[in-house]
Amino acid sequence: MSTTPVSTVADLETPLKFAYWVPNVSGGLVVSTIEQRTGWDFEYNKKLARIAEDSGFEYALSQTRYAASYGADKQHEATAISLALLGATERLKVIAAVHPGMWHPGVLAKWLITADHISGGRMAVNVVSGWLKDEFVNFGLDWLEHDERYVRTEEFISVLRGLLTEKDFSYAGKYYNINDFTLSPAPLDIPGRAHPEIFFGGNSTAAQGAAGNTADWYFSNGRSLEGFEENIAGVLKAAAAGTRTAPVKPRFGINGFVIARETEAEATETLREIIAKAHRPAVEGFAAAVKEAGQSTKDGKGMWSDSTFEDMVQYNDGFRSKLIGTPEQIAERIIDFKKIGVNLLLTGYLHFQEEVAAFGRDVLPLVRELEADLARKNGTELNTDLLPITNLEGARA
Ligand SMILES: Cc1cc2nc3c(=O)[nH]c(=O)nc-3n(C[C@H](O)[C@H](O)[C@H](O)COP(=O)(O)O)c2cc1C
Repeated sequence: MSTTPVSTVADLETPLKFAYWVPNVSGGLVVSTIEQRTGWDFEYNKKLARIAEDSGFEYALSQTRYAASYGADKQHEATAISLALLGATERLKVIAAVHPGMWHPGVLAKWLITADHISGGRMAVNVVSGWLKDEFVNFGLDWLEHDERYVRTEEFISVLRGLLTEKDFSYAGKYYNINDFTLSPAPLDIPGRAHPEIFFGGNSTAAQGAAGNTADWYFSNGRSLEGFEENIAGVLKAAAAGTRTAPVKPRFGINGFVIARETEAEATETLREIIAKAHRPAVEGFAAAVKEAGQSTKDGKGMWSDSTFEDMVQYNDGFRSKLIGTPEQIAERIIDFKKIGVNLLLTGYLHFQEEVAAFGRDVLPLVRELEADLARKNGTELNTDLLPITNLEGARA
């Protein structure tokens, strides 16, 4: 086992959770002409969702994109496809990405409660603050400057949570004003959660602050161990400052692009081929557009602010997390992330259906063994009651 020290924020008793990106936009997860046996249509996604839940994945995360951009020519809307995927599965939770500025938080709260009832409590949302300026401007909506977007996001989540949990809810903010509103029915009453889960994505200092104040789950782009430790510290600092409105302490998820192959050489060769076949104009266009993210802030920190051309071939810096190698190497790497405080791994693949099934078959059992060892070596036990139900026989691609 590696020498990464176990952080005081690591939760060694709870099994890691696994999510995959719903490929609901065309072109897959890498901007490359390499073969990707990944569809973006509903039938492909329906089968993928069933494979994923049988393979031990607890969550799927859909993407919100409205306009053709940088390799993603076609897109299915995130909340619609998420709800349909819940109808096609039994245990999987689906997290739909939503933008403040596109949605009113009251409309979203109402939608989320209905989705919660339809799905037996399996719908969640990922509140993202946006980077694709043209989508907002061409819809005739306001495009706020970077840190201001997070002021609005914080208000958005406060209103969303208020309407999900309180009666006669009122709120007076800069962006939202709610007057004595009660949504009925309320979300389902499910033990272990206060309301449908609210995820949040972003890396910058402003994002960490807003997540620390309001989010149940903080998601980051792919990062090194040291890089993600910084993010965790930033979120926890904000959460400890006394202004946090969420009822549970924040939990942490990180993105990683998985290339699991029989040998390390094969995995590295696949990465090389993805990058060698990068669609250069699309990657460069994307790199220019995402300057609206972390790079545009005062401290210049945040998503994509120090990403190289190679990193950006995967939209969310997924190569940086280094989930690339043999199943054993990947499992060890995942445990390193657990040691620094990660609770959830968000994963992407070249060939989703095949590779999600292979991940469940070849990587997850190793992770579970290593997690149990890690807990024991640190004087505790992995709570196996919390492990998801799997059906590896049924998870054939
Ligand atoms: C896990 C994750 C998922 C995201 N999904 C989307 C998405 O579906 N649509 C979108 O426009 N932006 C998405 N974003 C990006 C955010 O909108 C935002 O541009 C980014 O987090 C800005 O980061 P910054 O605060 O570091 O500048 C996502 C970010 C993360 C971390």
